[in-house]
Amino acid sequence: MEFRCLTAALADPGTLLEAWQGDTLAVGLFSDPNHPARPQLTNLLGPGLEELLERRRFKSKPGETLTIQRLEARPATVILVGLGEPADFDGNGLRAAAASIARAAAGSRSLALALPVEGLEPGAAASAMAEAVRLSLYADHRFRSEADPQPVPELVTLLGLPEGSEVALRSIDGMCAGVELARQLVAAPPNVATPAGLAATAAAIAADHGLELKVLERSDCEALGMGAYLGVAQGSDLPPKFIHLTYRPAQETRRRVALVGKGVTFDSGGYNLKVAGSQIEMMKYDMGGSAAVLGTMRAIAQIRPEGVEVHAIVASCENMISGGAVHPGDILTASNGKTIEINNTDAEGRLTLADALVYAGKLEPDAIVDLATLTGACVIALGGEIAGLWSSSDALADALLAAGQAGGESFWRMPLRSSYKEGLKSAFADLKNAGPRPGGSITAALFLQDFVPRDLPWAHLDIAGTVWSDKGRGLDPAGATGFGVRTLVHWISDGAPA
Ligand code: BES
Ligand code: MN
Ligand code: ZN
Repeated sequence: MEFRCLTAALADPGTLLEAWQGDTLAVGLFSDPNHPARPQLTNLLGPGLEELLERRRFKSKPGETLTIQRLEARPATVILVGLGEPADFDGNGLRAAAASIARAAAGSRSLALALPVEGLEPGAAASAMAEAVRLSLYADHRFRSEADPQPVPELVTLLGLPEGSEVALRSIDGMCAGVELARQLVAAPPNVATPAGLAATAAAIAADHGLELKVLERSDCEALGMGAYLGVAQGSDLPPKFIHLTYRPAQETRRRVALVGKGVTFDSGGYNLKVAGSQIEMMKYDMGGSAAVLGTMRAIAQIRPEGVEVHAIVASCENMISGGAVHPGDILTASNGKTIEINNTDAEGRLTLADALVYAGKLEPDAIVDLATLTGACVIALGGEIAGLWSSSDALADALLAAGQAGGESFWRMPLRSSYKEGLKSAFADLKNAGPRPGGSITAALFLQDFVPRDLPWAHLDIAGTVWSDKGRGLDPAGATGFGVRTLVHWISDGAPA
């Protein structure tokens, strides 16, 4: 799928029609019948437009589409997409409209979008539309014996953007390839996306794009004293793989950051076994954090942002049951020397992250961001559209919130209430791994904080609710969303402020 800008002003609909002669033209329409764009559309489609809208009950509600087939004219298909009230229309509305168009235009070989971009930065608007089209048409047929993929448009033209907007389109392929890799990893079954499978993916990114890769085996991790991570891994027949992938910018390095992703490729719960209704059959997606981190590396390996060195760290393993698995009650020692009583084997993500965060801290980066499908409590608190954000640094929190906005991903900042650490007190060890149910996503974040150097800007993103969408929404088809990649790529491309 290729993207282009055509700098023909919507202000002259005659030009617009003549300028573009492909298959399917999509035009956005605000609900206000007196909006200045309306008469222009009437010029475009003929005086019967208002009557047609009336007859087909088209109200221009956000996401609503109306397809008009024309026998003698080009473009042969015109899709009208509702945009709602102009006052409520923003970058997210633009993304949603472009995604609706892409779905309605299924089967078209060439597609043009004429959507209003006033009030938005033109490059950002162009990227938002292009990403929405490509990502909403993503389909995954890897695990079917007879794949029957729907053809997607070869050429997508964005109409009416100001001169120079196409520069922004240069990063679309890299960005979307990163999101798609994350989706593929999350959707892959747990017998495919294994710890070794994640390491192989990291190796492929490194080989294809010239990144540096180090994979630590179990014995290497033992030598580093990673008792928390290895405690989780010890119940599985699959060997753990500790992945460290590095991107170095071509010129000077102004910032160094570490991205840490939870990579539990299947979470059975361990001896605190997950029960019916706990989504055990979905726990292949418990490596969503690592998928976001690897997807981000795939994206930046292609986009090559300047000035920022990026370390991706994944302590990957399975959480399984066996004669060798951790017992509830075991005490483990993490690589910073802290002892942890395992009062619940299902709180395993934070154990793997503990040693990954200690490792990341030793690299002395300017900031650490971790992503994890860490708690069911975060899903209860924020649902499926918003991820939780905890940070020791207001500047880093604000930068990530802004990067999320730019990428169309939502976060809500949550408190690191230190008094809640009470809930992690152990009678026997320095701390226990699971706190009480109330505030469960907060105690999880507080647990992680114990493994991050005190003054280092750190943020934790709990993406348990957002990595998967059963029904699909916006530009996410049903299934894995690839959540986190766009936020991280924007943050890094902005120089990784913290
Ligand atoms: N991977 C789960 C969290 C999760 C649950 C993600 C549901 C997505 C959907 C995590 O390892 C877990 O089991 N957390 C426990 C922690 C508890 C035992 C303190 C949870 O949230 O119930
Ligand atoms: Mn668990
Ligand atoms: Zn888990």
